[in-house]
Amino acid sequence: WPFCSIMFSFQSKWRYFFMFLGIQLVVMALLSREGYQKRVNYFIRIFRKSEHGRNNSGLALGGDVYANLTHLSKTHLHRDDMPYCPLKSPLIGKSFSNVLKVHYGTFLEEDIAPTYFYVQRKNPLVVRGGRYRPPDCEARHRTAIIIPHRHREHHLKFLLYYLHPFLQRQQVTYGIYVIHQAGNYTFNRAKLMNVGFREAMKEEDWDCLFFHDVDLIPEDDRNTYTCDANPKHAAIAMDKFGYKLPYKMYFGGVSALSPEHYLKMNGFPNNYWGWGGEDDDIGIRVSLAGMYITRPSLKVGRYKMIKHKLDEGNGVNPKRFNMLARTRQTWKLDGMNTAEYEVLSKVYLPLYTNITVNIEMGISRPVTIITI
Ligand SMILES: *[C@@H]1O[C@H](CO)[C@@H](O)[C@H](O)[C@H]1NC(C)=O
Ligand SMILES: *[C@@H]1O[C@H](CO)[C@@H](O)[C@H](O)[C@H]1NC(C)=O
Ligand SMILES: *[C@@H]1O[C@H](CO)[C@@H](O)[C@H](O)[C@H]1NC(C)=O
Ligand SMILES: *[C@@H]1O[C@H](CO)[C@@H](O)[C@H](O)[C@H]1NC(C)=O
Repeated sequence: WPFCSIMFSFQSKWRYFFMFLGIQLVVMALLSREGYQKRVNYFIRIFRKSEHGRNNSGLALGGDVYANLTHLSKTHLHRDDMPYCPLKSPLIGKSFSNVLKVHYGTFLEEDIAPTYFYVQRKNPLVVRGGRYRPPDCEARHRTAIIIPHRHREHHLKFLLYYLHPFLQRQQVTYGIYVIHQAGNYTFNRAKLMNVGFREAMKEEDWDCLFFHDVDLIPEDDRNTYTCDANPKHAAIAMDKFGYKLPYKMYFGGVSALSPEHYLKMNGFPNNYWGWGGEDDDIGIRVSLAGMYITRPSLKVGRYKMIKHKLDEGNGVNPKRFNMLARTRQTWKLDGMNTAEYEVLSKVYLPLYTNITVNIEMGISRPVTIITI
């Protein structure tokens, strides 16, 4: 008898379990039939997310962008004894050239971004403020990455996930600065770059600055983040433009200037509020300052753009064509020499330096145009 009763209670437990399962299935079926596909997807994503978190290989996150980094050890040699890094990084193998293809569709278009913590764990050699130096050789290049930003944390997480290993494989010493525009006024990408330039140069003697949109992911390892003898436009082939240069003077997306280049062209304009125009202005400044634009090949300068709608607070700038027509008159009067701003906070986060800045001063003060 006692045995029988145990059997009975065991069976009833299973019965409850199956009933519970059944109810769940019905609920799921109802949810999806009632057009709750989104909600169901949400749950499915949560499961997938935890899978990403558990797997350390990085394969789950769209291609092995962390290849060749695992053997780098934390133990630094004595800085004095350290040899220079080779001219061409051995971590960028030939066969790697096209491996760093972002797996679009499977990753970038989804809503799940890697968490900061996850990216941090994948990059154990990155230190406070998003700084890195090669552990086993003295880098030949010191590059600061300047990212203008507002309300794009989602994109920032993707970018950091891809950019950190990409830069480490290139054996450059680097730092990542996110310049965050405070307040609600229209976004001003170019002025934020001016802020980034000045703030980054205050901290370290960078020999190259990469001005980088937050939503562009480099696809090719050979796209080296170092400066050329002339200003470099790195984002020559974006998927958005069918991997072609949209027009000859285009200078948008990702560009690289040495401090000398930057000062020679008086930095970037401060008066382009809203979307568009400022990158063309910068392109014109390059030639007005007697320099020309260099570019990597179409094969190497490839970028994928993370999809998004036009941001709120970054509407198309209606004045851009008028302003562009006057760049020749304005470039010496408006730029690095007139960039007024106020740093509200500077926080050294594990993966980047977050500089929050008020750039709204001087909005009502138009540039005086001196016609010669
Ligand atoms: C986890 O990583 C291994 C390689 O270490 C890979 O073979 C496997 O497919 C990954 N699992 C998932 C769920 O992505
Ligand atoms: C890693 O480095 C080696 C050379 O050390 C190279 O041959 C290889 O292509 C690189 N990339 C990958 C994905 O292993
Ligand atoms: C920005 O707008 C939000 C509401 O949209 C408001 O709560 C906030 O105070 C504004 N911030 C500033 C600095 O004006
Ligand atoms: C940077 O810091 C500011 C102020 O603490 C914060 O509001 C903002 O979200 C931060 N931005 C990023 C991209 O972390």
